[in-house]
Amino acid sequence: MNVSHISQLAQSFDLESWSTKALAEIETKLDQWIPSNAPANLSEPMKYAVLGGGKRLRSLLVIGAFESGTAGLDPSEMVWRREAALRAACAIELIHAYSLVHDDMPCMDNDVLRRGKPTVHVQFGEAMALLTGDTLQALAFEILTPEPTLIPAQLQAKLCGLIARAAGHNGMAGGQAIDLTSVGLQLNETQLSQMHKLKTGALLEVSVIAGALCAGVSMQALNKLQIFGSALGLAFQVIDDILDVTADSAILGKTAGKDASTDKPTYVSLMGLDAAKHKADVLLVQANQALLDSDLQNSDALVAIALKVVNRSY
Ligand code: IPE
Ligand code: IPE
Ligand code: MG
Ligand code: MG
Ligand code: MG
Repeated sequence: MNVSHISQLAQSFDLESWSTKALAEIETKLDQWIPSNAPANLSEPMKYAVLGGGKRLRSLLVIGAFESGTAGLDPSEMVWRREAALRAACAIELIHAYSLVHDDMPCMDNDVLRRGKPTVHVQFGEAMALLTGDTLQALAFEILTPEPTLIPAQLQAKLCGLIARAAGHNGMAGGQAIDLTSVGLQLNETQLSQMHKLKTGALLEVSVIAGALCAGVSMQALNKLQIFGSALGLAFQVIDDILDVTADSAILGKTAGKDASTDKPTYVSLMGLDAAKHKADVLLVQANQALLDSDLQNSDALVAIALKVVNRSY
């Protein structure tokens, strides 16, 4: 398999229409689940951080992985399984939004532009930005544990555990700690991939796993999807590193050129643009091979999303 095979496979799938349909529901739920009555007007920065922007890649991966494993499910079971997937998709999107709010703060990357708007701390002040991140993270776990619900307690607990681990010290937050303490250092590829897998890959990988768990796929398929999610997660951050160099701020919706100007180790600083792009292509092929090995019936959306991740322009 190579990238042109993957492009051919993806051509027969209308990712645009599929995403529009999937996201209509996600956006409605996010809007509904972010409270409008939080104290001291905290609802305003919460909504500002989450709604009306972002590619929603993580929620699309949840829904794509879910749909890959639902063939033959009983319609009554589908009701609670779909609700669980929708909740997982929104929960992960909230944790991602929180990570961006904190990532942009002056004590971290000190960025003023995000999703084409002033960052949350610029708009609402640092204390409110900190609290917005805190509340979005907690809200994610509230959404995963509704009452009353038909979603079995065991599935709720499993999703909470996996998502907490992907967000925490051995996931996103741990990777962010490596990122901040690596400024000015030359990491080797093992160290850099470890940083990227934690700070970014973990949430993408758990998106795939969560969707598949909600569908109730086999252990064998779950193992293959984990390999898919892990390779795609790393590829995503390699492309983020590339876009920081090649794209401009207006298209990215965030300040381009920040990694070099703040001396962050990236795939581009480690191996140059061409080798970094090649690395992303190799990871894309790995991801798709795992998908093929999973024997899942309906993985067209995942193939198309993976290709988009590597070929995106923002
Ligand atoms: C940006 O993620 C932060 C990284 C993990 C590199 P996205 O590029 O998915 O950001 P949005 O959600 O589309 O704004
Ligand atoms: C951020 O990585 C990863 C997060 C956990 C938010 P970056 O710092 O490279 O993300 P951008 O480029 O600011 O979106
Ligand atoms: Mg950062
Ligand atoms: Mg940043
Ligand atoms: Mg970046």
